Amino acid sequence: MSPTVLVTGGTGYIGSFTTLELLLAGYDVVVVDNLSNSSEEALNRIELICGKRPTFHNADVTDPAALEEVFAKHPGIDSVVHFAALKAVGESSEIPTEYYRVNVGGTINLVATMHKHGVKNIVFSSSATVYGDATKHEGMIPIPENCPIGPTNPYGRTKMMIESIIQDHCDANPEWNGALLRYFNPAGAHPTGVMGEDPLGAPFNLFPLLGQVAVGRRDKIKVFGVDYDSHDGTAIRDYIHVIDLAKGHIAALDKLRKDHPGCRAWNLGTGKGSTVFEMVKAFSQTVGRDLPYEVVERRKGDVLNLTAVPTRANKELGWKATIPLQQICDDLWKWVKNNPEGYRMQPTKELLDG
Ligand code: NAD
Ligand code: WQD
Repeated sequence: MSPTVLVTGGTGYIGSFTTLELLLAGYDVVVVDNLSNSSEEALNRIELICGKRPTFHNADVTDPAALEEVFAKHPGIDSVVHFAALKAVGESSEIPTEYYRVNVGGTINLVATMHKHGVKNIVFSSSATVYGDATKHEGMIPIPENCPIGPTNPYGRTKMMIESIIQDHCDANPEWNGALLRYFNPAGAHPTGVMGEDPLGAPFNLFPLLGQVAVGRRDKIKVFGVDYDSHDGTAIRDYIHVIDLAKGHIAALDKLRKDHPGCRAWNLGTGKGSTVFEMVKAFSQTVGRDLPYEVVERRKGDVLNLTAVPTRANKELGWKATIPLQQICDDLWKWVKNNPEGYRMQPTKELLDG
């Protein structure tokens, strides 16, 4: 029998791609999501692509009884990949206690329920945001995992706290294993154009916004600051294709299940930084016209450079991001062109026929 993996937040952007990769790798998958920022249509798209469908529970990770029911129903659960969280950096400064309740409280509830049911492997969605402004530390750009952490917003602090909670729980329970995966900037969609990012509210990340400009849902992109210390004045990020990122979870899960490494942090990035202007240009080339932009002030809390040193994950997980930036742009374009309303519309016949 295939091992069963519980994926919290599995109908969300990264969770749906990871669910797809888990199914392709032969795992059985149980998804828990409260659909606060996603829709069940993601499950149909997963099935369209791979012919398999995860079991789905509409449940909230902060609800102890709901999680208990899921674990009781699926005694075969062997490991958990934990995505469910609130993730809007700006909003986290407006309603911080809600972020602590859902992100930190939800994780404590999850870990306690796993513990009760003897499930000892957890892969956690951390973020490069835990590093804060790494330019403050000499020799830490690009950023290795031993860079001191120091997030600059409540969202980032929830990730830092959760890392500590998982670390402490693994220390107290040596048979436990935790992968703290620090993602850099996930982007892109499935090359079929069938699956992609579909936040329910207004997006705030660069790539989904570029996609909306390309399909006319927005007039222009605002470039946040051209006075950074980079070659063109705009900030540098490490954009990683969401499929490479999803595969990083399978590699981490396999590592936990086979080698029992205890708790360990791994950067998931490409190691290559790109500026905002480079991304606007690259996506404009894909779309075939210059996308309009306007230069505005820096966004509060943004830092100059978030680029990973990914060698620890390369060596220890046998994983490497391989999909080029141009493909991030091409796949995003195919996704937004074919699904301008995201999952709120059915995929077209052409799309289904490939
Ligand atoms: P997403 O919003 O698309 O996915 C999160 C999912 O969790 C959604 O489907 C949402 O409905 C669900 N959810 C939220 N609260 C829940 C709750 N209380 N109970 C059950 N389900 C709940 O976001 P994403 O971009 O796929 O991010 C997934 C994870 O990766 C998050 O933990 C996020 O913090 C982390 N992360 C994301 C990025 C990024 O840029 N997208 C970068 C670093 C880390
Ligand atoms: C990328 C670059 C912006 C929008 C955030 C979170 C981080 C992680 C990933 C969850 C920056 C610039 C953006 C726009 C712009 N998420 N930009 N105009 O800020 O690197 O990271 O998402 O963990 O925690 O902070 O990503 O896509 O918002 O921005 O010029 O309209 O694009 O200034 O340089 P960011 P992003």
